[in-house]
Amino acid sequence: MGLYSLMLRSPFWLAPMAGYTDQAMRRVFRGFGSGLFYTEVAVAQGLIRRSAPSWHLLACEPEERPVAAHIYGSDPAVMADAARMLEATGRFAAVDINCGCPVRKIVAKGAGAALIRDPARIGTIVKAVVDAVTLPVMVKTRIGFDVGSLQIMEILRHVEDAGAAAMAVHGRFADQHHKGDADWSVIASVKDAATIPIIGNGGIRTAKQAVYALRHYGVDAVLLARGAVGNPWILADAERLLQHETIPVRDYAALREVIHAHLDALIALKCKERAWRRKKRMDPDHAAALQFRCHLIQYLAGLEHWADIRRRFNDIASSDEIREMVDVVISRQAHPWHILYPSRG
Ligand SMILES: Cc1cc2nc3c(=O)[nH]c(=O)nc-3n(C[C@H](O)[C@H](O)[C@H](O)COP(=O)(O)O)c2cc1C
Repeated sequence: MGLYSLMLRSPFWLAPMAGYTDQAMRRVFRGFGSGLFYTEVAVAQGLIRRSAPSWHLLACEPEERPVAAHIYGSDPAVMADAARMLEATGRFAAVDINCGCPVRKIVAKGAGAALIRDPARIGTIVKAVVDAVTLPVMVKTRIGFDVGSLQIMEILRHVEDAGAAAMAVHGRFADQHHKGDADWSVIASVKDAATIPIIGNGGIRTAKQAVYALRHYGVDAVLLARGAVGNPWILADAERLLQHETIPVRDYAALREVIHAHLDALIALKCKERAWRRKKRMDPDHAAALQFRCHLIQYLAGLEHWADIRRRFNDIASSDEIREMVDVVISRQAHPWHILYPSRG
């Protein structure tokens, strides 16, 4: 499936988020849309060494597809070899190169956001990967590294010359990490100058904002990141708004069902992880419960009596406690969900 067909399928995509957008989240969110999913980010060097944890990050089942393999690295030959291996799995619709992650460990290796400072190197890496595979190759980057120093136009030139199929632009500088507003006017000028599809990203919290960004800034697709955590409805609602359809009224039963499905999928994933983890003592149910807390906070944020519940989060140790907590929270709601959450539809 080409990138344009993915955009036609839906121009609202779930952005990659390490520690969040694992198989469990993708499985549940697939029911709500997303033209394309990304895997969590994996290091190319680990893939070519056949490291089990790196390959685990790229596990995906047919029902999650289409999925882009999201990788980072700074050595063009290693990135090309990793991309070849990814293509050989037959699992992926695209290879996506991370040129925007500002995490110190990655930047210190000259990868992720460090590449923004060297647009020509981005071009060399993209060219090596494009020459190595037949899959479409995409880049996800930011508008610059240091605040105020725009590098995205130069990056665009190198990315296009190297034969990339699309570029996702997060409208913040790497130095900002995830703070401050995303500059969508810069994203719009990238789109104006580009000959390849441009995917806009940054600061979208509601379905309405996602549709506005798509229409107003002219991008080919919009990536939803933090605005989608605990809110898979944003994908389906944006699609409905785009088609001028009304958004159905939600109820707490739907919220409960989604939380249960996500938690169950995460427990199943943790069971699989056990096969290669060195510390096998960690019970999969306990591991899933701990990791699920960051999703649960977002699923329940804004509900009535939220403050009382939030205090108990650090004590959560099992999936049963989560299910019980969700029931207690829902039983305390005095207002229909759509009144409490107008922005969620
Ligand atoms: C917890 C977290 C993990 C992230 N991991 C990645 C990643 O692995 N690769 C990447 O390209 N972007 C990553 N991002 C950035 C998001 O994809 C997105 O570009 C950013 O959050 C801006 O969008 P937002 O303002 O809608 O959240 C991450 C963001 C968050 C919050």
